[in-house]
Amino acid sequence: MVNQQWVLAERPESYPQPSHFRMVRGDIPKLQSGKALVKTLYLGVAPVMLRYMRNDTAFEAPLEIGDLMMGRGVAQVLESDCPELPEGSVVQARIGWQEYALIDNAQRPTPFLLEHHDLPYSHGLSSLGPTGFTALIGLREIGALKYDDKILVSGAAGGVGSQVAQIAKALGASRVVGIAGGAEKCRLLVEQLGYDAAIDYKGSDLAEALQHHFPEGIDLFYDNVGGPVLDEVLARIRRRARIVICGSISEYLLPAEAQHRFKNLQQLGRQDARMEAFFVFDYGDQYSAYASELASWIRAGLLQPKEDISRGIESLPGALTDLYTGANIGARMVHVADPVSG
Ligand SMILES: NC(=O)c1ccc[n+]([C@@H]2O[C@H](COP(=O)([O-])OP(=O)(O)OC[C@H]3O[C@@H](n4cnc5c(N)ncnc54)[C@H](OP(=O)(O)O)[C@@H]3O)[C@@H](O)[C@H]2O)c1
Repeated sequence: MVNQQWVLAERPESYPQPSHFRMVRGDIPKLQSGKALVKTLYLGVAPVMLRYMRNDTAFEAPLEIGDLMMGRGVAQVLESDCPELPEGSVVQARIGWQEYALIDNAQRPTPFLLEHHDLPYSHGLSSLGPTGFTALIGLREIGALKYDDKILVSGAAGGVGSQVAQIAKALGASRVVGIAGGAEKCRLLVEQLGYDAAIDYKGSDLAEALQHHFPEGIDLFYDNVGGPVLDEVLARIRRRARIVICGSISEYLLPAEAQHRFKNLQQLGRQDARMEAFFVFDYGDQYSAYASELASWIRAGLLQPKEDISRGIESLPGALTDLYTGANIGARMVHVADPVSG
């Protein structure tokens, strides 16, 4: 038996593509003291991975050409010498793009056990993992959501965005509008993902659409894309608005000098508004509580995780490309293997 692994072959100039990776076949690692040997079930992809590939993050160790690609996944513990990761448990952790891994409880961010075994393990990379926690933290802890807020979400059909409207409604919100690229995504926002209306930022005039949907202005903006969309929204915020900076995928490909120059930042002062970013991995001590809350909403039918799953570890590089071409709907992930039974 071999351990298939994807390593970095080249640094991307533009968006990540399969040619930037190379598949290698190594041995399955042997259990070591204090560690757990895990078998990968699912691996997720995230926009931030482009920044790993370019060595452009403050929070990750440098990734060199030939290194195993970093990434989180859901895995089954096959053997363990780590009391926190018992044999047979299923864990969400930094596994890297490989079929088997040695992990331990000292790695940061810390691995966490999936506790809701009545629900699919794939949810550990959507609603019951950092993607879902990000949606919840952004709305409640950062956005201080109120029931009568007029809420707008960008990147609304993506991994995080596909959950924001449903979670906002579970928290009591009455009206949520989403922005996404293309008529098909906009249809899904309204028909499946809990949005009351959708704006196709590629096929319509955003300023006009915002005026139409928010004649009195926006109270809470959950932003996944940044750049010109954020600037346009800033022009239309209401008094005491809250702008949640979750991510800015529209800027990740651009060199610093080409990034958007904001024209409407003064609106924050004029409207006594607040704009705040956050990092989901700073909330690790709350994950178990978040997962229980989100799982209860799934069971109650209030939250339907939207997952975009391809099969086989060979499909991972293409899955990452999808995030940058807009091909994904929901949390993009790859099914690598089924768990060992018994
Ligand atoms: N703060 C945190 O702790 C935290 C944690 C996780 C993720 N994030 C951030 O949250 C955001 C969403 O993450 P995710 O994992 O759910 O990814 P995602 O939204 O699924 O990302 C892919 C989507 O982004 C959109 N997109 C791609 N290029 C774009 C561009 N140039 N302009 C506008 N939209 C573009 C596309 O949708 P369209 O077809 O609609 O354009 C695409 O389907 C990202 O910015 C990510 O970095 C932050």
